Formats: sequence, C-alpha cells, structure tokens
Amino acid sequence: MIITVTLNAAIDKTLAVPNFRLGRRHRAVEQTSMAGGKGVNVARALKRLGQPVIATGVAGGPTGTRIIEQLTDEAILNDFVRIREESRTSTAVVDPTTGDQTEINERGPEVTEGELELFVDKLLYLAKGAAVCVFSGSLPRGIPDELYARLIGEINRLGVLTVLDSEGEALRLGTRAEPGIVTPNEPEAEELVGHEFSDDDDRAQAMHEIVELGASEALMTLPSGCLAFTRDGQERALYSARIDPGMVESRSTVGSGDAFLAGMVAARYGGRSAEDCLRFAVACGAESVQHFGAGVVDPREVQRLLDDVTVERLSEPALSPGA
Ligand SMILES: Nc1ncnc2c1ncn2[C@@H]1O[C@H](COP(=O)(O)OP(=O)(O)OP(=O)(O)O)[C@@H](O)[C@H]1O
Ligand SMILES: [Mg+2]
Repeated sequence: MIITVTLNAAIDKTLAVPNFRLGRRHRAVEQTSMAGGKGVNVARALKRLGQPVIATGVAGGPTGTRIIEQLTDEAILNDFVRIREESRTSTAVVDPTTGDQTEINERGPEVTEGELELFVDKLLYLAKGAAVCVFSGSLPRGIPDELYARLIGEINRLGVLTVLDSEGEALRLGTRAEPGIVTPNEPEAEELVGHEFSDDDDRAQAMHEIVELGASEALMTLPSGCLAFTRDGQERALYSARIDPGMVESRSTVGSGDAFLAGMVAARYGGRSAEDCLRFAVACGAESVQHFGAGVVDPREVQRLLDDVTVERLSEPALSPGA
C-alpha cells in the first residue's frame, strides 16, 4: 500500500479564461472543481495508474466534507482526520490563448495541537501496513515546520520508503531527517541548497548537495523532464531524463509535479530499474499536462509517451567529499 499525506487538502477549482487580464471581468469557457492539495493529486494519479493507495491528512468544514465525498466518488481510498476549521478552496485561472496560469490559494485552516496528534496517530497506524509514504505540499497554520522531519524519522523506522515533496523550511528540515526521496522543482531546489543555478553543472552539483543534507535520493523536476541522483541497486548515479515538450498538447500544467511523483512511486513500487522509473515518471508528468485536472493521467497515453523520453546516465561533476 502507498500512503499519501495531504495536510493542506483543498477543493481545486480550475477556470479556463481566454485573454485573461487583470482588472477585467471575464467568463470562463471551461471549469472543473475537484478534490486537491498535492498529496490528493498524487493519490489520484496513483489510483489512475492502478496502484493501491490511501489518501490521509486533515479536512474541515463543508469544504472538507466535499473533499472526502469527491475522493470517495473517484474510488480513492481515504482516511482523513476531521478538523474544526474549514478546508480551503484554491483557484487556478488558465488562459488557453497564452498558456499562462495564475493560481490563488486561500490561507487555509488552522490546525490545533490536539487535531495534529490525532492525525499523527492515524498515520503511524496506517504506515504499519504500507510500503511507501508520500508527504506532499506546504503545512497549514498551526503545524510546526518540523512536522515532516518528525514523521519521516518515525516512518523510516518502520522500514517504509519516505518521499518528501515540499518547499521552504518544511522541506529543509524534512530533508535533514533523511527521507528516501525528495522531489523539488528547480526553484525549490535552489532554495533548499541556498544558491541559484546558472548551468547544468550547478544543477548536477546541487543533487549531491541535497543528498549531503540528508536525502537518500534527489530528483529535481524541470519543465523538460528531470535530473536525478538516484539508486540503481546499492549504487547512486546521476541521470537526466527529458521529453520534447512538443510531444504533448499542454492544457494545464497544474499538478504536473504531482503526476511525475506518482509515476516515480508507481514504478518504484513495481520494482523497476532506476532508468525505467525516471522514464515512467517523466512520461506521467508530461501526459498529465494534456488534462485539465491536477493528477489526471491516462495510463495508455503514458505508455505511448515512454519511447519519447530520453534517459541518460551522466558522468559525475567534481564531487564534494562525502557525496
Ligand atoms: N509543458 C509541459 N510539457 C511537457 N511536460 C511538462 C510540461 N510542464 C511540466 N512537464 C513535466 O512535468 C514534470 C513536473 O514538472 P514541474 O517542474 O513543472 O513540476 P512542479 O513545478 O512541481 O509542478 P506542480 O507543483 O504544479 O505539480 C516534469 O517532469 C516535466 O517533464
Ligand atoms: Mg511540485
């Protein structure tokens, strides 16, 4: 079983608005509303890929009820802790004429200490029967930045593979707690290592720095694929995986990182080689941009795209000691 953790679950509303301009009144030509939050998106993609997954986290108020009902409608197993304050609604405006995307995320509920401890108990219970636990997204108000670090420590001890996809302080502290895999995008990785990347050598070096910080493996998503310092057997090696963006017709890139992560976890769960995992993950990320909803992937289309992904094992840059 794969567990996904979503502490910032939401109803994600996506609106297609041609020629979107600030300060104007618009009419949406297309709209969707579905349960969201990064871990929920990962759960949706895993479910569509035919993987056994259970989504957990916290959800509150009428919006929380809708999140749980929509998950249940999609036949995604879920076990959330109900909280007193109302879960958020996040709105994305996609302009089909330019491809530009504007996201507005509500502030979200405050989680009390008691609610958080109920969640921790639930997660540790669920993790006893799990192979992988994915922590996705930012933390809501009231939850200390150390939470992912604490949970990663406890769940690593159960022998469950921990995967962390977050940002800022929660990612930095979580990475020090030695998760199995971290999956930042490029700006998140720059913040994590504390400097910007100007070329591919910088990016490759950063993969080593992230591992030195504590992660066992580092995967950095890029709009064209990913760079990975990942294991094949006992050994770690640097890989690049790329797809020509022209292979897919982009409708919405919201949640492409979540589909990528789901692809990686699904392939790992299936015991595939490092190269196959990266190929599958990049194909899932790319396929997902053809759909309007976050975490929506079509497994047949993913299969079709696999041949269009180029995976390359890179020679190592000058390594710093201990990498
Ligand atoms: N326009 C696109 N065409 C094809 N593939 C894309 C496109 N945008 C993103 N992808 C794929 O999706 C994956 C994730 O990309 P990205 O770095 O944008 O993630 P992200 O910023 O974490 O996204 P999010 O946080 O919205 O889920 C990458 O592997 C990339 O190949
Ligand atoms: Mg992301």
